[in-house]
Amino acid sequence: MTSRIASVTGRQLWDSRGRPTVEAEVHLESGAIGRSIAPAGASRGAHEAIDLRDGGDVFGGFGVNRAVAGIGAEIAGAITGMDARDQAGVDNMLCDLDGTPNKARLGANAIVAVSMAVLHAAAADAREPLWRYLADRKKVRVPLPEIQIFGGGAHAGRRTDVQDFMVMCPKAGSFRRALEITDDVYRAAGRLMEAKGPLSGVADEGGWWPNFASNEDALDTLTRAIDASGHRAGDDVFISLDIAANELGDADGYTLALDDGRLSGEEMAARIIAWSKRYPILSIEDPAGQDDWTTMAAVTAAVGECVQIIGDDVLVTNAARVERAAEAGVCNAALIKVNQVGTVTEAKAALNAAVARGWGAIVSARSGESEDVTIAHLATGWDAGQLKVGSFTRSERMAKWNEMLRIEEAIGTDAEFAGFSAFAGSIGRVNA
Ligand code: PGA
Ligand code: ZN
Repeated sequence: MTSRIASVTGRQLWDSRGRPTVEAEVHLESGAIGRSIAPAGASRGAHEAIDLRDGGDVFGGFGVNRAVAGIGAEIAGAITGMDARDQAGVDNMLCDLDGTPNKARLGANAIVAVSMAVLHAAAADAREPLWRYLADRKKVRVPLPEIQIFGGGAHAGRRTDVQDFMVMCPKAGSFRRALEITDDVYRAAGRLMEAKGPLSGVADEGGWWPNFASNEDALDTLTRAIDASGHRAGDDVFISLDIAANELGDADGYTLALDDGRLSGEEMAARIIAWSKRYPILSIEDPAGQDDWTTMAAVTAAVGECVQIIGDDVLVTNAARVERAAEAGVCNAALIKVNQVGTVTEAKAALNAAVARGWGAIVSARSGESEDVTIAHLATGWDAGQLKVGSFTRSERMAKWNEMLRIEEAIGTDAEFAGFSAFAGSIGRVNA
């Protein structure tokens, strides 16, 4: 069988924060090669799969020597000879070999790099671009991008409480056009920031460094930037927020350091609901902490008919948590990050669980990234409908946007831009 795995190697590379990360390289008997680089989060959920880091003083403890060594010493032997086209078989083997519930022994960074490298090798063996290999002859949509304009929270020294101030352009008609509109907004926002005072560079994902007096100041500025860009806020361009509230508290209460300090879960829900009524907001991620499902469900019950409520740290790309969250009405969309769960197969299962519930699905990057563009292919080939990559600057982000432009071109005249169809229930209809 030509698509059998002939060799697996790991190596240490560097990510966009200048921290060590793992790359895996898989060679098949056919000569096909697949490679992939593990991303890394900063605002991580407690229920995520765990990266294996060396600890100690070297590289701030972020070294990956042990993770790379495990690929050579254990993983290679276990999956060599397996068929790369049997992704589920390979991923099951990786989970069994690790033997822990959260991949802590071999490390989710090692496992995710190998899992995605196997996928790339299988697509190369089939002589297909990855997105088309995954689509398996089904018609797929070009995803709607969600793009950061200001970065805050854990990605910007907590200059704002809210982590991501992003835009979405569901009426753009094409991915290419959505990026052009976003560029207008990004530059208009930069001009407004400059007028406010010294522009202090960019946050971890490349969005403007947030020099704001309050979270609402940021929302006001973003709304003004959209209008100043020549596009219409709440029509051509909508706001999307990642509150990343897990970083702000839990069911016992939340701290909005920039605003008025301590809020109860109920007050937090009321604050988020008020923002979603006052600003042209189409999507809100993690408005509550990972285990505060009461607050998150309250937000979804109040505005979920017209606003996408995304679970990130709440769901951690875990199909079982998606099922339970759906039962409890916690949100209406799932963020899908392969390294949160550790393998391609488990991430796809979480996406399938979300889609089966009629939810939206957003394939997402991490704040620590690289030139690896796998997520552009996953978002398209899995027909997720949405793609979140970070800002509109810096090459680890632009590599993904640029890859999407190539994919859109390859789909050709057949390409259907997901637009409002990406959202659950009535959200698209209400906002169209
Ligand atoms: P992270 O942030 O990659 O630092 O976890 C991204 C997000 O919260 O969506
Ligand atoms: Zn998030």
